[in-house]
Amino acid sequence: MKPQSSKFKPRNTHLPDFHNDFQLFDDKNQTFFPHETGLSFYCSILYQICQEENIDFVLLSDDWLIKLTQNHQNRYIFGYKFGINDQTAGQIADDKYATYDALRHVNIPIIEHAVCYDKTNKKPYAKNRNTASYVAEYLHAHADHIVLKPSAGTCGQGVQQITRELEIPYALEKIFHQSFSAVMCPFYHILAEYRIVILDNLPRLIYKKTPTANQWKFNLKTGALAEDVQDEDLKQKITQIAIAAAQTLNLRFCSVDIIETTAHDFLIMEVNSGVMIRRFLKQHPEKYPLVKQIYRDAILKMFV
Ligand SMILES: Nc1ncnc2c1ncn2[C@@H]1O[C@H](COP(=O)(O)OP(=O)(O)O)[C@@H](O)[C@H]1O
Ligand SMILES: [Mg+2]
Repeated sequence: MKPQSSKFKPRNTHLPDFHNDFQLFDDKNQTFFPHETGLSFYCSILYQICQEENIDFVLLSDDWLIKLTQNHQNRYIFGYKFGINDQTAGQIADDKYATYDALRHVNIPIIEHAVCYDKTNKKPYAKNRNTASYVAEYLHAHADHIVLKPSAGTCGQGVQQITRELEIPYALEKIFHQSFSAVMCPFYHILAEYRIVILDNLPRLIYKKTPTANQWKFNLKTGALAEDVQDEDLKQKITQIAIAAAQTLNLRFCSVDIIETTAHDFLIMEVNSGVMIRRFLKQHPEKYPLVKQIYRDAILKMFV
């Protein structure tokens, strides 16, 4: 029986929007076509894998939740998060400041972060770090050019450059609609951003992201282009950093974004415990077998 896709809109607007993408990849013809089950492109890949591996596949919770069953054992995929990572590890990756602190603690290179809280947060830990003037101080200490972003964010949403004090209150307001805390970072001049997908300490996919003209964010969602990385030394260098980060955070399946600055420093931008490869695949349909194999291995590992 084919799984039924929910007719309702996703209820959690903070999750990525794979629901908009009702397409299926045709293995034989190497093209995309509308999926007759109405499943999103992403869900349809997982569905195909489960059919091939004899795993029951049920969509729940407006399709955000996928229940997989084999030999009376249940496993779940929630959005892009596979039930293979330790829950605490996933929570650290979901919090940019916690990720920064955990990696910096063991000297893994990561861009500088400082945390700030909403002005309504009067808890002791937020003291002196819940005001616009605190952010202004950070701005002036960092050449009047910083980036403010939600500590729990994705796809570039709410990520804002700040160069003037008067931009701060609006930027904070926007962030605190979607996140409990915010992070401030100095602005880095980025030459390239690389994404490395790690599964059990092995690099499974590496690509370079380049923004299109008049974009400054290196997110594929905001129009960045993905391309292969050919340089083996470079691959080795970024892979080492990515594996060290995954090991430190205790993440089995994750993606690590690493920037190369104009000064040729390599620094982690962020770590994601959800592995989203859909937009990459749209740009590179020839990688479909590889991506499917990565997801297949992650699913099979959930049942080991
Ligand atoms: N401190 C920074 N300096 C320069 N660019 C940044 C900085 N922080 C974020 N960016 C840009 O914004 C993009 C999105 O930021 P990121 O921290 O990855 O958040 P998200 O989780 O929303 O993708 C990055 O890929 C990068 O291109
Ligand atoms: Mg990012």
